[in-house]
Amino acid sequence: MIGAGFTLAGMESELDFHSAKALLEWQVELGADEAICEQPVNRYELPDTVVKKPVANVAAIADAPADTGVDAAALARQIAGGVADLGALKQALEDFELCELKRGAKSTVFADGNPDARVMIIGEAPGRDEDIQGLPFVGRAGQLLDKMFGAIGLSRDAPDSAACIYITNILPWRPPQNREPTPDEIAMLLPFVKKHVELVKPDLLVLMGNTSCQAMLGRKGITRLRGNWVSALGLPAMPMFHPAYLLRNPIAKREAWHDLLMLQAKLREK
Ligand code: URA
Repeated sequence: MIGAGFTLAGMESELDFHSAKALLEWQVELGADEAICEQPVNRYELPDTVVKKPVANVAAIADAPADTGVDAAALARQIAGGVADLGALKQALEDFELCELKRGAKSTVFADGNPDARVMIIGEAPGRDEDIQGLPFVGRAGQLLDKMFGAIGLSRDAPDSAACIYITNILPWRPPQNREPTPDEIAMLLPFVKKHVELVKPDLLVLMGNTSCQAMLGRKGITRLRGNWVSALGLPAMPMFHPAYLLRNPIAKREAWHDLLMLQAKLREK
């Protein structure tokens, strides 16, 4: 759960140390384990004008909050469809206001690595470290991902595009407490992911874990899917165990190594 500072009318300047501590402990007891903003937001006092705002064009809808009844996935398709390059795609996501996750996130985590890479990795969603740093896969799972791809000579910061990877996620915003993305969230953000792949034009995709497979293939069941080439958006795609899963189940690293070797072989044959 995410906590914020307190604004109990008129109390901010009068709070003594013990009262402030008691209020903080109360938040912790309620389950808040992270502070995300310096100033509290009193959502009861937010104007609801946007709810009634006439939805005349894409820009107007993109500013609307999540409860307007707007078909967010359709709007996302419309916005993503009009984007011409990666900079514009990043900007479009930063301007997209229909996903509630964005309100709880510090960063819009877009991508890392070299967009000229032959291999594009699609993960699930940013976690805490990624949200703080604004880059995908920089926490423990990300460190393992770097080691895994390093073992077949690929890295996110290699100067040579043939030795590079490019990394993104299905969701650019961290879900609270790292919960699984909902089907609605996936449907809403998938048009941006599809456009991302279209702009990067990789030779191969790596689908990291179940959420990525669900979004890109419409199928889950990573244990069965992994280790076999499938087709996603017309490209060869390798479903793989997510590195976070490998951290919890190191025994499965053997299968991950097999999948990495398949990836390496495919790159050599292409
Ligand atoms: N897990 C993911 O799927 N993506 C990240 O960026 C970090 C952890």
